[in-house]
Amino acid sequence: MDFNLSEEQLMIQQAARDFAQTELLPGVIERDTHQKFPTEQVKKMGELGFLGMMVDPKYGGAGLDSVSYVLAMEEIAKIDASAAVVMSVNNSLVCAGLEKFASEEQKMKYLKPLASGEVIGAFALSEPEAGSDATSQRTTAEDKGDYYLLNGTKNWITNGGNASYYIVIAQTDPEKKHKGINAFIVERGWEGFEIGPKEDKLGIRGSDTHSLLFTDVKVPKENRIGEDGFGFNFAMAVLNGGRIGIASQALGIASGAYELALKYAKERKAFGTEIINHQAIAFKLADMHVNITAARMLCFKAAVEKDAGKDISESGAMAKLYSSQVAMDTTIEAVQVHGGYGYVKEYHVERLMRDAKITQIYEGTSEIQKIVISRSIAKK
Ligand code: CAA
Ligand code: FAD
Repeated sequence: MDFNLSEEQLMIQQAARDFAQTELLPGVIERDTHQKFPTEQVKKMGELGFLGMMVDPKYGGAGLDSVSYVLAMEEIAKIDASAAVVMSVNNSLVCAGLEKFASEEQKMKYLKPLASGEVIGAFALSEPEAGSDATSQRTTAEDKGDYYLLNGTKNWITNGGNASYYIVIAQTDPEKKHKGINAFIVERGWEGFEIGPKEDKLGIRGSDTHSLLFTDVKVPKENRIGEDGFGFNFAMAVLNGGRIGIASQALGIASGAYELALKYAKERKAFGTEIINHQAIAFKLADMHVNITAARMLCFKAAVEKDAGKDISESGAMAKLYSSQVAMDTTIEAVQVHGGYGYVKEYHVERLMRDAKITQIYEGTSEIQKIVISRSIAKK
């Protein structure tokens, strides 16, 4: 076991840190306040290879390992958790799913522009009545011979208003339950495909979240991913990897808040000394440091296991469950360390606290991660 990062991994970490400081930090409060999507910044992320980090270069990706991805996600989420979720969805839900399961033709047509960051993608599983209970898909994809007829509504779709390509999960044969579900690549602008209004959110306000409405959308048969009935297993396999992305986003939110709190505690004076000299404050920082280090290790473990081709359902869920709790705890305490200053936008920690909450909800709530973990340990 070796805890050292390689030269290449350190370079990626530094590149992401520099990018976050120079390109993301300047407008982050304004984007949060006005719910402004980071269009220019996402374009630059694509140019730097951050949108298809693990994809083979022959499909337009950067060909890097998953630990590099965790490192880059952490650095970007430290500064702008909204940009980080755009990156996470594109990398680990859209690109990873296509690279692993799509046909060669689908990869050349869709993966290449997505991995190179020319366009971004979205992943549409959730519905008004099917969130945690994801097998209860109400969206239908009726088999019409050489095409499917797509009808229904997807909810809460990240990148919904800015994506060019959407991976949409739908039920083809309800009698077969989850074995009758398919996954499709749907293009923006197809007749009958409408994008609903943007959600007004508590956090990650720079990212865009929309419902998607499908009315008799004709999806060519060649846009189905994998064999007939593979859609639910596809979604689960993709989400196992996706959870590493969100775990790393949560890790970044936590470590961003910790770094701000540590700096502030060394500068702010009360009762004649820097507040870090008050043990109540010093102990908060010690707890944050331990918890963040443990969260980072769980993220690395899941990433290393993913690259080794292992089943990461348990390790991905563990990384997400723990990191998201650490993000919540750390950001709440970081606001406390800042006192009244922590409660205003200028000091960033209140935004990080609002951003942290979503990491316990999307890509499977914490309760769902516990279901995944408990089923896995019960099998052993
Ligand atoms: N990995 C691989 N396969 C899995 C799996 C996993 N983690 N979890 C379930 N499966 C497979 C099962 O093996 C089974 O397949 P087979 O029949 O072929 O063996 C199939 O899925 C159905 O499994 P269950 O019988 O266990 O189904 P269930 O209904 O009892 O529970 C669940 C499934 C784990 C709760 C699942 O519905 C789930 O993960 N729900 C959460 C949904 C979710 O994470 N949504 C995220 C949307 S994307 C998003 O949120 C993006 C974003 O914000 C940025
Ligand atoms: P519900 O499933 O209704 O859950 C409500 C509560 O009940 C939760 O606390 C849950 O943990 C609990 N619960 C439910 N079932 C159980 C159980 N069996 N045992 C114990 N507790 C249970 N989805 C996508 O497909 N693509 C996206 O890009 C995407 N982006 C999102 C972005 C944002 C900002 C948000 C808010 C959501 C996004 N989602 C996306 C949807 C997200 O994945 C779901 O909100 C999430 O899976 C929970 O589903 P739900 O909201 O329907 O809650």
